[in-house]
Amino acid sequence: MLSREQLLHAAETHGTPLYVYDARVLDERIQRAIQAFSGAKIFFAMKANSNLHIVRRMKDQGLGFEVVSYGELHKALHAGVPGERILVNGPAKTLEEYELGQQVGATFILDRLDECHFLKPGAKAIVRVNPELHVSTHSHLATGEAHSKFGIPLGHAAEALQQARDAGLNVRGLHLHIGSAIQNPEDFREAFEKVAHLADEVGHLEVLDVGGGWGLNADLEGIAKIAFEAAKSFGAELWVEPGRFLVSESGVLLTRVVGTKETARKFVLLDAGMTEILRPMLYGAMHPLRPLWDHPETDRFDLAGPACESGDVLARDVELPLPERGNILALEQAGAYGAVMSSTYLSRPRPAEVLWDGDFRVIRRRESLEKLWELEMTSGF
Ligand code: LLP
Repeated sequence: MLSREQLLHAAETHGTPLYVYDARVLDERIQRAIQAFSGAKIFFAMKANSNLHIVRRMKDQGLGFEVVSYGELHKALHAGVPGERILVNGPAKTLEEYELGQQVGATFILDRLDECHFLKPGAKAIVRVNPELHVSTHSHLATGEAHSKFGIPLGHAAEALQQARDAGLNVRGLHLHIGSAIQNPEDFREAFEKVAHLADEVGHLEVLDVGGGWGLNADLEGIAKIAFEAAKSFGAELWVEPGRFLVSESGVLLTRVVGTKETARKFVLLDAGMTEILRPMLYGAMHPLRPLWDHPETDRFDLAGPACESGDVLARDVELPLPERGNILALEQAGAYGAVMSSTYLSRPRPAEVLWDGDFRVIRRRESLEKLWELEMTSGF
């Protein structure tokens, strides 16, 4: 973990809001996953953090990548990831994704059967099945429920797999992903039990891909044990697609106190909000907070961002040492689904990102104002 002095130094040098990553934490998480899942293939879910420097670090440690857009596919290739190490996923893939994915030898995660029409015979594919179960996470983060848009309904999975084979695809196995930030390993067991009968119905499979979704403090060895058992019962190699687990802990968002204010509640106003970190607003996510200042007295505050939206609140009713303008607050566990979900709403340039790896290196420059309107400089301007 980076020290207070290091974080304050980063904020002073690079300004706020600022994303700061610690390469040691990142490598430690990657290695933990590699150890717990030794014998399995790990594909990093690139949506969690697609910064080129982070992607390259994962690639250098042997990981593959799960991508869900033409942009992510290109970016992975640009970072030097070999196409064979890429899974192309998504419920509504474009023709360009099918084209480029096949060109580079990627494996497709089929989310519906008519995708076979867009792939040439011999294309590598795994078939996503929806295990149809309720899991212990926020409803926006559950993906394996019967009403969800993902995968092929359980009752049609065997038939779909056969049809994909008949279409001449190189069908390597099955895929499932039950959701994100799953706290209870038993959810995974339940999902595998739901699909277990397919082992008898679909013939030999090379691969069982069980997706990602590991909660940050999840029992990794427990999940690994359950997943390896499931793959074994299919006689298949295990594939996994963690996102959050690998990057979340390595990143913090640094934000500066702009002022305080009392209405019916006490507010600390910050220079970062929903545009820099959307998770609190979107999922009611509570990120651990680390105030980088001292004061003998504390009080309870709501932490609000600069947007003119009532929902732009990063935390409610949290105890903090009495703040003053200029103090720096670190919002933790921001390495996953943080920078990637930032936006330029309200014409706010996206923050810079820096990586600590013995010293601080800028891995994404702060967006410039010109960049905000560059694409609008068309005729008439
Ligand atoms: N595989 C598939 C097919 C996925 O859809 C996802 C995440 C993952 C793997 C990686 O899941 P993870 O290990 O990161 O939980 N924006 C949300 C998270 C959305 C996750 C979408 N799919 C958030 O900020 O929590």
